[in-house]
Amino acid sequence: MRVPFLDLTPRGEERDELSAAVARVVASGRYLLGPELDAFEHEFARFAGARHCVAVGSGLDALRLALQARGIGRGDEVIVPGQTFIATWLAVSAAGAVPVPVDVEPDSHLLDVDAAAAHVGPRTAAIVPVDLYGQPADHRALRALADRHGLWLLDDAAQAHGATVDGRPVAAFADAAAWSFYPGKNLGALGDGGAVTTDDEALARRIRRLRNYGSEQKYVHLEAGVNSRLDEIQAAVLRVKLSRFGVALAHRRETARRYSAALADGPLGLPPEIAGTEPSRHLYVVRSAARDELQSQLAQAGVETLIHYPIPPHRQEAYAGTLAASAHLPNAERAAAEILSLPIGPHMTTPAVDHVARAVSRAAECLQLRPVAAGTR
Ligand SMILES: Cc1ncc(COP(=O)(O)O)c(C=O)c1O
Repeated sequence: MRVPFLDLTPRGEERDELSAAVARVVASGRYLLGPELDAFEHEFARFAGARHCVAVGSGLDALRLALQARGIGRGDEVIVPGQTFIATWLAVSAAGAVPVPVDVEPDSHLLDVDAAAAHVGPRTAAIVPVDLYGQPADHRALRALADRHGLWLLDDAAQAHGATVDGRPVAAFADAAAWSFYPGKNLGALGDGGAVTTDDEALARRIRRLRNYGSEQKYVHLEAGVNSRLDEIQAAVLRVKLSRFGVALAHRRETARRYSAALADGPLGLPPEIAGTEPSRHLYVVRSAARDELQSQLAQAGVETLIHYPIPPHRQEAYAGTLAASAHLPNAERAAAEILSLPIGPHMTTPAVDHVARAVSRAAECLQLRPVAAGTR
């Protein structure tokens, strides 16, 4: 049996609904800033538990425009986790501010809130935690930290559609949340897309203006904005995906549950269960000191795996020569060396999940893997 990491080809009823949605937009003659976008923004705001949603061209733009709309830029520092997809950092840099990396917790790879507190200084303007792999960050502690120092809290929820803390969507704890609709995300478009959700009406209005050349009225430009609008086709597609989201989320959670049950007694580090949180299970990430050997054994068994992410942002060429490049982030570095993502997408059938779990157990036995040292959380 061959198990690819991902196969996003829509099938059955979903495929028909997506085709009909695209055809509806094609026939409408309206391709930007139209009724599909308006409807999607209302539907997604409700989903995220926020008053406003402004949909933009990508998750990176959602982060960047949210920071810009808040007035964060040159001279400001923004705390970011050392382990994340680099877009979290790039958004801060693009806004003109300085990303200040903070190490992550050893098991969850989420921003270490005590370490973040130690990095707050006179220039700190905001914190951007990441709900990495769909596991909610420690939002209550982050909210308290932000309130204590008067910092703005922007949640990078690009991987967290459907994740909750104490039954509330992750976005509920931050001042704003940035989402990605990259095709492989839990809520994925058929191309790029992103959104900001917030209860702050003035912030939403400014993002709406920034995404449209700084304009609220045609050919009147109040500031130097950009072109970053979710188009009508993607909005219509996302409305279909959102209407089917509950089933897709349940499928991911069941896949994760099956993996965890099958691998519980083995030597690999498994995603931690954190009380009060319901992850979105965007990725199912295991840990082993012999990660590369494990990955090649799985490849031989027909199981495709990926690494999210093999090089932490502070080790990327993009940040060479900056202060961040010399940051001491041992947990982020260890994570990059040990993590391996098992397939968890919509294509995973029960036999495929069981095949992967068996292949992992067999490889662990064959490689005589030693148990991963437990972390602190
Ligand atoms: C944590 C995180 N932040 C930001 C992004 C950026 O989103 P996009 O690819 O839509 O620009 C992604 C996904 O790619 C992500 O995983």
